Amino acid sequence: MAKYKIAWLPGDGVGNDVMEAAKIVLDKIDLDAEYIHGDIGWEFWKKEANPLPDRTIELLKNTDCALFGAITSKPKEEAQKELSPELQKQGHTYFSPIVRLRQEFNLRTNMRPCKAFEGNPLNYKDDIDIVVFRENTEGLYAGIEFYPLPDDVREVMKKNNAKMARFDAVAKEDIAISLRVITRQACRDIVTDAFEFAKKTGRKSVTVVEKPNVIRETSGLMVRTAREIAKNYPEIELWETNIDAMCMWLVKNPSTYSVLVTSNLFGDVVSDLCAQLVGGLGFASSGNIGDDYAVFEPTHGSAPKYAGQYKVNPMAMLLTTKMMLDWLGETQNAKALENAIAEVIKEGRVRTYDMGGSNTTLEVAQAVANKL
Ligand code: IPM
Ligand code: MG
Repeated sequence: MAKYKIAWLPGDGVGNDVMEAAKIVLDKIDLDAEYIHGDIGWEFWKKEANPLPDRTIELLKNTDCALFGAITSKPKEEAQKELSPELQKQGHTYFSPIVRLRQEFNLRTNMRPCKAFEGNPLNYKDDIDIVVFRENTEGLYAGIEFYPLPDDVREVMKKNNAKMARFDAVAKEDIAISLRVITRQACRDIVTDAFEFAKKTGRKSVTVVEKPNVIRETSGLMVRTAREIAKNYPEIELWETNIDAMCMWLVKNPSTYSVLVTSNLFGDVVSDLCAQLVGGLGFASSGNIGDDYAVFEPTHGSAPKYAGQYKVNPMAMLLTTKMMLDWLGETQNAKALENAIAEVIKEGRVRTYDMGGSNTTLEVAQAVANKL
């Protein structure tokens, strides 16, 4: 029996292309693993009204971790239209399978490294090395939303918060509410993970990115908790920055920042910004990490227009594979893979179109494998 069982979830669009690239390096490393395919994504929404079938959940429960490509997700009405005719009008609503996976498996930490590799022509600056820690199960992604607004919900809110009276005259069809839910435990966990990582890697600062001057309760809880946790790490500074200012500072002085920690939606936004500073989504890896399970995925989407063309940059996926190896405890292999990636970028001979080259996804993966 293989040492590891890995759920293999290509998903949609270029997810398939980049997973093939990952397989090339994993085979070269000769990782003692069994890769088991799982169904996930748009195809299963259209055919089964469920982009994350139960059989896939079961598969994940029987594996050590999952490697995931990309998924297409669309807003409510568009998703509805693409459902196969016999499934229409049965009350199915689309949900994002990756968001559901994060919640169902309590993959509470989304870790997103954004490092400028030497020789990458797309670097905004060459000394950027930021790691975003994004709370992954709550916040505005908790999925607690109301539309049309039920009368009893409106009443309860009005009774408890005078500000609700402003909306008295608004009809229930003309108002929508999405709740931002943040628990103390989730704040503690994400901030602790960020500080532990900083400690382990010798980083000097952790920046909590919120907006407590306006979003007093939820952002406030995150910042207050960060101050509490920071006391356990006297050698690491805690910086506090508002999300809007953070975006400005990241464009102005990106090299100043090291570890960022934030709630779900802000983390989604700021991690795309950080990715662009180091060459774009073609270089952005991520891990959805829980206490005993993890799903690794590149930050990019499924880019349907490039699907099957082997055009997109596999570096994000290869760096994601590196994160998976680290998490499995395959530290040597992880280091070797990162070095191989760094060498290929530095040499600059084999490059996908985004880097000004004309090589395919698989040629880049092969070049990395050749260095291993
Ligand atoms: C990400 C993506 C997802 C998110 C989408 C695909 C649901 O943007 O992983 O950053 O919003 O979390
Ligand atoms: Mg995103």
